[in-house]
Amino acid sequence: MICHLVHLPVVDSTNTYLRSLVDAQEWTCVTADQQTAGRGRQQRQWHSEPGVGLYLSVLLRPTGRIGSLPLISLAAAIAVAETLTDYGVGGVDIKWPNDILVRERKISGILVETTGLGNGDTPRVIVGIGVNLNHRSFPPDLNDRATSLLAETGMETSPPSFRDQLLDRLSHWYGDWRLGATEKIRNRWLALSTYGVGRAVTVNLDQELLAGVTAGLARNGELLLRTADGSLRAIAAGEVCGLRPLTTNLASGK
Ligand code: BTN
Repeated sequence: MICHLVHLPVVDSTNTYLRSLVDAQEWTCVTADQQTAGRGRQQRQWHSEPGVGLYLSVLLRPTGRIGSLPLISLAAAIAVAETLTDYGVGGVDIKWPNDILVRERKISGILVETTGLGNGDTPRVIVGIGVNLNHRSFPPDLNDRATSLLAETGMETSPPSFRDQLLDRLSHWYGDWRLGATEKIRNRWLALSTYGVGRAVTVNLDQELLAGVTAGLARNGELLLRTADGSLRAIAAGEVCGLRPLTTNLASGK
């Protein structure tokens, strides 16, 4: 894989910038030292403190397999989780679909945006990845929900070297996706996530709050949820919130 690297000192959002490069080739990768309007999933902002994080967007142009496109987002989560583990972070977890957590705190988030679907062209899939690398602290509202590679390992990391290792991993898993090895992706995701099977969660859908126990992934990467009435629901989009495991409640006597 040959990357076309673009690095900017400051940008509103690397995803937005990459989207504006209409002639960009596959594997164009935009990074920035700072984002002034970093975007997260569900219209949230992504905290993008200057110089300490990896703010990266990469363009993929997948041909065929449109039904499996959501698995690219799971493949990206695998790539991030494996890279963090390579860098010595212990207990890396993935919350469906692609929040990367350590000790239930977010260390990385992924925003995948797809354009050009349905017009007969090859879609453009922009995979935006934010990784908290050298953050020493977070704003008060994130303080107990976020962590960084530095906080977890005590070591500073150079964003370009983390970027290169992450792109290697992404290229590996995207290569599997292109070959149609989707079961391999699902299995790897499930192996890296405590949220995939047997986890009591609530899922915030647009109009509905659903409670249940996770029951694996559907072929296209949707989350399967066993609800109280015993039925199985496939979740295509929503915010998953883990409930405290029952054993913890028992141990604490609550
Ligand atoms: C989330 O967890 O809600 C997703 C966060 C994605 C943040 C990254 S940072 C690089 C890229 N540019 C953006 O504006 N967002 C993504």
